[in-house]
Amino acid sequence: MPETTFHSLVENLENYLEYQRDEGVQRMEVDRAVLAELARMPDVAPAAAVEVPVAVAIPIPEHFQSLEEIAAHVSTCRNCPLYEGRVNTVPGEGNADSPDIMFVGEGPGADEDAQGRPFVGAAGQLLTKMIDAMGYRREEVFIANIVKCRPPNNRAPLPEEMEACLPYLRQQIGLIRPRTIIGMGATAIKGLLGKTAGITRLRGTWREYEGIRLMPTFHPSYLLRDPSKKKQVWQDLQLVLKELGKEPPPREK
Ligand code: URA
Repeated sequence: MPETTFHSLVENLENYLEYQRDEGVQRMEVDRAVLAELARMPDVAPAAAVEVPVAVAIPIPEHFQSLEEIAAHVSTCRNCPLYEGRVNTVPGEGNADSPDIMFVGEGPGADEDAQGRPFVGAAGQLLTKMIDAMGYRREEVFIANIVKCRPPNNRAPLPEEMEACLPYLRQQIGLIRPRTIIGMGATAIKGLLGKTAGITRLRGTWREYEGIRLMPTFHPSYLLRDPSKKKQVWQDLQLVLKELGKEPPPREK
């Protein structure tokens, strides 16, 4: 195609997108193949692929074959506005081969966003201690979040952000098949069970997610604000160990 025709096509497309935005359209579906083609055209990519004035929603496939495929899809995801503020996506990490435990939190904070890894900040250090106290190493469990991009100012993700992101977590759980899930905090429980009942009422009581035993407990960030709740969380973690037929290791003096 002659270059001038091509550029006028791109210009038309931009005008069209700008018009749609002015009409209030906030999201559009664009085939992945089209985006990939645009990204391969160096002199067009900045105009067409980066400065598109509306968020581009790419449908999430229903059957990912691997966690790597999910992470790759997440890394280019623009299905909710959280992509605008992210440095890195945080798909999750750990033992993906039917681990005893999968921990699910809320969403990345500043440290996680900077590193692209879940629970690596202050709450993450506490989570690592909890995992240790149970007799596991971080690499032996899987750690993920309800949303894969950092919400601004560490606010809780909005219902529509959770809805947009949950297909990733659901498919991760389907591929990982953990023996148990520990849902940490109200957002995790709402995302996994759709329950809005308070975490205070739900914690410590077994639930089920797609045939997997799920234990709700408090979020480690909450424990940092109110350490008196650690006792209850330890009770919840012990229930999980019991379910797995394990004992906590003796505490170091
Ligand atoms: N809080 C979360 O819910 N997830 C993280 O990854 C870090 C902090």
